[in-house]
Amino acid sequence: MCFNKTLLSCSTIGDSFIHFLRISRKITCHLLRWGFVVAVSVAIILFGIIVVIFFMSWVNLVVNHEVTLRQGSQTTDWWVKPPVVPTIKVYIYNVTNADEFLNNGSKPIVDELGPYVYVEKWEKKNVTFNNNDTVTFHQEKIYYFDETQSVGSEDDVVVVPNIPMLSATSQSKHAARFLRLAMASIMDILKIKPFVEVSVGQLLWGYEDPLLKLAKDVVPKEQKLPYEEFGLMYNKNGTSKDVVTMFTGAGDITQYGLIDTFNGKPKLPHYSEDRCNDIMASDGSIFPPHLTKNSTIHIFDKDLCRKLPLVFEKEVTASNDVPAYRFTPPKNVFASVEENPDNMCFCPQGPPCAPSGFFNVSLCQYDSPILLSFPHFYLANESYRTAVEGITPPDEEKHKFFIDVQPLMGTAMRAKARIQINLAVSQVVDIKQVATFPDIVFPIMWFEEGLDSLPEEMTGLMKLATTVPPIAHAALSGSLFAAGILLLIVAIWRLVRGANRLNSLQLAPGHVGISANKGKDVQMSNVPKY
Ligand SMILES: *[C@@H]1O[C@H](CO)[C@@H](O)[C@H](O)[C@H]1NC(C)=O
Ligand SMILES: *[C@@H]1O[C@H](CO)[C@@H](O)[C@H](O)[C@H]1NC(C)=O
Ligand SMILES: *[C@@H]1O[C@H](CO)[C@@H](O)[C@H](O)[C@H]1NC(C)=O
Ligand SMILES: *[C@@H]1O[C@H](CO)[C@@H](O)[C@H](O)[C@H]1NC(C)=O
Ligand SMILES: *[C@@H]1O[C@H](CO)[C@@H](O)[C@H](O)[C@H]1NC(C)=O
Ligand SMILES: *[C@@H]1O[C@H](CO)[C@@H](O)[C@H](O)[C@H]1NC(C)=O
Ligand SMILES: *[C@@H]1O[C@H](CO)[C@@H](O)[C@H](O)[C@H]1NC(C)=O
Ligand SMILES: *[C@@H]1O[C@H](CO)[C@@H](O)[C@H](O)[C@H]1NC(C)=O
Repeated sequence: MCFNKTLLSCSTIGDSFIHFLRISRKITCHLLRWGFVVAVSVAIILFGIIVVIFFMSWVNLVVNHEVTLRQGSQTTDWWVKPPVVPTIKVYIYNVTNADEFLNNGSKPIVDELGPYVYVEKWEKKNVTFNNNDTVTFHQEKIYYFDETQSVGSEDDVVVVPNIPMLSATSQSKHAARFLRLAMASIMDILKIKPFVEVSVGQLLWGYEDPLLKLAKDVVPKEQKLPYEEFGLMYNKNGTSKDVVTMFTGAGDITQYGLIDTFNGKPKLPHYSEDRCNDIMASDGSIFPPHLTKNSTIHIFDKDLCRKLPLVFEKEVTASNDVPAYRFTPPKNVFASVEENPDNMCFCPQGPPCAPSGFFNVSLCQYDSPILLSFPHFYLANESYRTAVEGITPPDEEKHKFFIDVQPLMGTAMRAKARIQINLAVSQVVDIKQVATFPDIVFPIMWFEEGLDSLPEEMTGLMKLATTVPPIAHAALSGSLFAAGILLLIVAIWRLVRGANRLNSLQLAPGHVGISANKGKDVQMSNVPKY
């Protein structure tokens, strides 16, 4: 195999030369064999280098394949029916001095009640996979009151501003005077007051409101206000009528979990620029995978009336010790247009625009003067909080909005979506019922929609996906390099020894030189064959 035999058989040279040839053949064979080993070890080392460079890309490909929403996959089952127990904790600002506030110009005094806790069950209904890498569904959320976690009962009676009434009066500010007077007499007849006394259950899930009932009867059908009941979470218990189309990630993993269209529309209609109308954002459960600390993620919620950006804050450890990144809205997210000119397009009819720390959702709420903020006016001017008595200073840990995401797979692991609902009342002196109600941003309630942990079956898999690849990477590349280098050292050592033996043969220098060269030539020209 390693030497031409005819070379020997046709030789007519003396014994010693034949002896030399035999030895030299042996040695050349030896050189060839170990040369081959050198080639193999170099190949192993090269493969090790390839592993070092490409292993993580292969892992990413596997992750992308696994997370992609496909009919019948485990990820999809979890996405359709998340095996999690989200809760919503509601805190209500009960007004304890409504009469003094109206009649005596006192500062309103509020008493923060709650939490009233509802356990949620989420499921996506009518899930249809489209053939353009999107999936269409209706979100269902069922809320169950949880007495054990709650402080108080759904039957607790609270006094809160009459939102439908104060919305109507505030809106009438720029209308004709006779309209305001007409409004005043209607409210007189219907005995509508600026504060209502309702149970917590009613405030959240709906109570019959005389003004809305009237509006429904008299206002032409196509003009908004489709309900005669008012509730802060009215119609939210059950399957949403909204049709959401979301990218599955099959075509482009960077769009995984992002909303394509909402009720068939790819944009909101409210604002002046596409940037603000854009809804290409997550619904808060899954995010495009491979998030870095530089990533900005976005959440869209219909009631938020915009997509909310979130940026990396810090590394955290989520349930079952799975590492996660905490994302939180940038501090200037609701800043006034003076401080954050990017927010200008959220103020299509301004200036004046919403003050710093507030987001005007009036356009999504039938023109009601609703301003969203973070709880306890976190990130807003202190003066809004102190305009009302009974609200403790905001505490970042208790009142900020955040979400912990497993960065490799883009799964939400823990979340506290905290928002406060405020009513921006404008004083309207022509309407006698509210003549003494001053201009004020009146806090109504705040809530925290949260997820504390994922079930073990999910976190177990994530732990595997986050810990195994780096270990496998290190082990595989390490053993490849070790094996390759070890083989290389042995082979080189044997080669050097073989060459020395060839050198040490007692023969004319010319012959040795020829043989040695010949050996080398054969070795080199033969290598590619193996
Ligand atoms: C809310 O405040 C009113 C007084 O304005 C009081 O009668 C009522 O008991 C309070 N509700 C609760 C649950 O404390
Ligand atoms: C208004 O309230 C203050 C303090 O509670 C009280 O001293 C004052 O007498 C009240 N005024 C009227 C007109 O009721
Ligand atoms: C879901 O699909 C069923 C049958 O395809 C249909 O009857 C039902 O109206 C759909 N539900 C919604 C909310 O679209
Ligand atoms: C994908 O198909 C669905 C249903 O046909 C449609 O609503 C959606 O707009 C399409 N999306 C894209 C990006 O083409
Ligand atoms: C929500 O609806 C379910 C049934 O669909 C009901 O059992 C539950 O009590 C409702 N929750 C609230 C808060 O009304
Ligand atoms: C993040 O952004 C900074 C500055 O923009 C840049 O220096 C850094 O390399 C980026 N890091 C990653 C992981 O992209
Ligand atoms: C909220 O937006 C509406 C509609 O754009 C506007 O009429 C209203 O003045 C705004 N309110 C505040 C407090 O900026
Ligand atoms: C808060 O508002 C008051 C009055 O409107 C103003 O004087 C003060 O400078 C504001 N504080 C901050 C921190 O913007």
